[in-house]
Amino acid sequence: MCGIIGIASTKSVSSNIVESLKKLEYRGYDSSGIATIDDNGINEKKCTGRVENLEKILFKTPSNGKVGVGHVRWATHGAPSKVNAHPHSSEQVSVVHNGIIENSSLLKEDLEKKGYKFKSQTDTEVITFLITEFLKDFDLVKAINKTLSKLKGSFALGIIFKKYADTVIGARKGSPLAVGYGHGENYLGSDSYALKSMTNKITYLDDGDICLLNNNKVEFYNSNNKKINKEVLTLSNDENTEDKGDYKDFMSKEINEQSITVKTCIKEYIDETRKDINLYNFPIKPNEIKKIVLVGCGTAYHSCIAAKYWFEELTTIPIETDVASEFRYRTIQFDKKNLYVFVSQSGETADTFAALDLCKKNNVKTCSVINVVESSIARLTDFVLPIHAGPEIGVASTKAFIGQMLVLYILAIKISDSRSEISKSDYTKKIIELKKLPDLISKTLKCEDKIQVIAKDFVNSKGVIFLGRGSSFPIALEGALKLKELSYVHAEGYPAGEMKHGPLALIEEGLPVIVLAPSDRYFVKTISNMQEVIARGAKVLLVTNTNNDVNSENIRFILTVPKSDPFFSPFLLTIPLQLLAYHVAKLKGCDIDKPRNLAKSVTVE
Ligand code: M6R
Repeated sequence: MCGIIGIASTKSVSSNIVESLKKLEYRGYDSSGIATIDDNGINEKKCTGRVENLEKILFKTPSNGKVGVGHVRWATHGAPSKVNAHPHSSEQVSVVHNGIIENSSLLKEDLEKKGYKFKSQTDTEVITFLITEFLKDFDLVKAINKTLSKLKGSFALGIIFKKYADTVIGARKGSPLAVGYGHGENYLGSDSYALKSMTNKITYLDDGDICLLNNNKVEFYNSNNKKINKEVLTLSNDENTEDKGDYKDFMSKEINEQSITVKTCIKEYIDETRKDINLYNFPIKPNEIKKIVLVGCGTAYHSCIAAKYWFEELTTIPIETDVASEFRYRTIQFDKKNLYVFVSQSGETADTFAALDLCKKNNVKTCSVINVVESSIARLTDFVLPIHAGPEIGVASTKAFIGQMLVLYILAIKISDSRSEISKSDYTKKIIELKKLPDLISKTLKCEDKIQVIAKDFVNSKGVIFLGRGSSFPIALEGALKLKELSYVHAEGYPAGEMKHGPLALIEEGLPVIVLAPSDRYFVKTISNMQEVIARGAKVLLVTNTNNDVNSENIRFILTVPKSDPFFSPFLLTIPLQLLAYHVAKLKGCDIDKPRNLAKSVTVE
């Protein structure tokens, strides 16, 4: 987490740094700061809270300087406070840092013995003082490499210097960092998104790389202080999706544009004329796949569970799912005939990246389902399946979840066809049916008015339980995650059949329970589970797609989504749950796009 920006220019940099920090706020928003080099040396300004607070400070007391670094923080070591905000500066050096230095306590002890006085509780200040110390004896690149060799953990760094007043240095190990090329200025950023408004020419640093920028040149060095060449990439010019348009927040925009993003994604994968799915150069022959392992975190993991049900219905391939933070530390018997699929919106999630890295080290076939195609995960996998959702800014993932499920579903159909586990006519039918999904999503979105009424009834609840069976189970998990992350209401998702094994004890008069029961082979069972919670006083919202066979007595609310191909239920059931979380959070006055304690891209483990 945390966002880094650095600029070396021929003109004052502070306003561009602040603008870029606003774009990076999705990575952290506990505190922010900036340091520039002016005639008096390092000029550091920082504050708690959002970048707009920093902007106000700079408005009152502007920072000059043609070279500078900026940072938005998501606290790891030390509480969110002004003193812990980055940059961390000595007389000579100012550092912004993303990541965690695992041996910071030991390094701190050594540095304190040398007389360095620490002001903050962060792990970053050791970097500032190590560089300051090594600069006494070494030139710039050597001093940085000496410092890096002392650090254990993961990091991306942006550094400026009093003595080298025209230079910004960047260094990477484990946390992403990119360089951008401008006219009369060059940039450093935690990701291409922060740089996109300034340039579309970028280079990604690899682990161990150092970059040195000033206003007219960029140089790269490896850990042996040798100059190296790196590829310059041209980024695609996405449509301007950073604009909220008429929406109050990005989340409502992103929920409401789901039918469009789904349509775009379907167009990318479906060959209309041949009624086929475009998937060339897949890294493993579908016939030879022994097992598929699906890995992700949070919402992305929920899409993996939904996909498990589809793959199991459509193919004979055994499926395993895991959260990346568990997968990366398991003792796994890797098999070259397995396919390992990594799902991530940002493509920068540290645990997912580490899980992928483990697979790469074991020489197995990997594939990623990704929104940000320039991301670290996309670049490391053998094959990338983009979800084509466009930038997702709201911290709560919505359109990316729908996109992840869609691409995994398309993959399941294609693999099933390639293995001849589905008849040609069923395959064609599934492709034709897919084209109906955007319209079904549009229709489902019309439930928003009803959801607003339900949200008012649920807003004061202490907790909410979400129940589903089969592919509705991951949607129950996702509904609960959305509600807790946005409205800070305790929420849990369960397979409906699990209630009797413990959670039923939680049911008391008036506790909201959201039951997901589309008309599928689980329907009757789920409705029985619903009756069990109603009998114990639960206030039920039933989300279904059928009006038959339900005794509506004692059900507080029934919300009916359009009837569809059973494989589409997870998509359509998700939408009312996204809207419910949104409206409960709105009624509670929560920050919709930036919920407390969270960040959009989780780049620390
Ligand atoms: O960028 P990723 O998809 O890898 O992110 C994974 C999770 O951090 C993410 O889905 C998180 O759970 C969302 N905030 C949920 O809305």
